[in-house]
Amino acid sequence: MIRLLLRSTGVGTMRELFIHPNTEKLAQAAADLITEVAEDATATRGEFHLALSGGSTPRPVYSLLVREPFRDKIVWEKVHLWWGDERCVPPDHLDSNYHMAYETLISQVPIPEGHIHRIPAELPPDQAAQAYEAALKQQFPDEQFPCLDLILLGMGEDGHTTSLFPHTVALAESKRWVVANFVEKPAAWRVTMTVSLINAARQVAVLVSGADKAGMLKQVLQGPYLPESLPIQMIQPTPGRLLWLLDAPAAAEL
Ligand code: 6PG
Repeated sequence: MIRLLLRSTGVGTMRELFIHPNTEKLAQAAADLITEVAEDATATRGEFHLALSGGSTPRPVYSLLVREPFRDKIVWEKVHLWWGDERCVPPDHLDSNYHMAYETLISQVPIPEGHIHRIPAELPPDQAAQAYEAALKQQFPDEQFPCLDLILLGMGEDGHTTSLFPHTVALAESKRWVVANFVEKPAAWRVTMTVSLINAARQVAVLVSGADKAGMLKQVLQGPYLPESLPIQMIQPTPGRLLWLLDAPAAAEL
């Protein structure tokens, strides 16, 4: 594994890059990170608030977490699950991020039902965003923006993260915690955490795998700051920690 430090353009957050030889090692490193943050959060605050990402990259990570040596290290009764974004489909739909997490993780471990804060994306998009924001506000009533312990993110080939897609209205949102966002490609509504909410987290980990992401990763990490075109560049937690967990094919052009 290679570790690099790279200052972001924009706000200037320090990015910690971890380059792993392959996808398997990347998944193990992500499972290690989640376990460590869970142990620390549970020991210091009595609960662990984790926001999951959708897409395909985290699937092997969730599958690892339910097996040893990870499974026994996490106090599942203390885990709260949130989602960074959701596609506007019912929870049993194959495109649902909740559904993927249910199959790989939730159905396998004893997380209390009341700790699983899925985005109710079967509702009209604005209502779903409001209901999810209300659930967050119920959990974190006194905070301007809550500090989730760890937010997992992925990066799309167009530089999006969660459902913060290039040139979409959600990018300009500075007060709301969650919004509905219409995405042109594929033409569909999504519900997404806002940049301000993500940037308030204690830790944010972006998982990127595969050679098809290499060109975009170089632009995002080493190119000029172009937040409208490359929304993931806006992810700069302050004072939180920002980690990029990469595999070698994704990091090949850095
Ligand atoms: C989603 C996401 C999205 C995803 C990236 C990367 O619901 O699609 O949360 O932001 O993380 O598109 O997806 P992959 O891991 O499949 O490359």
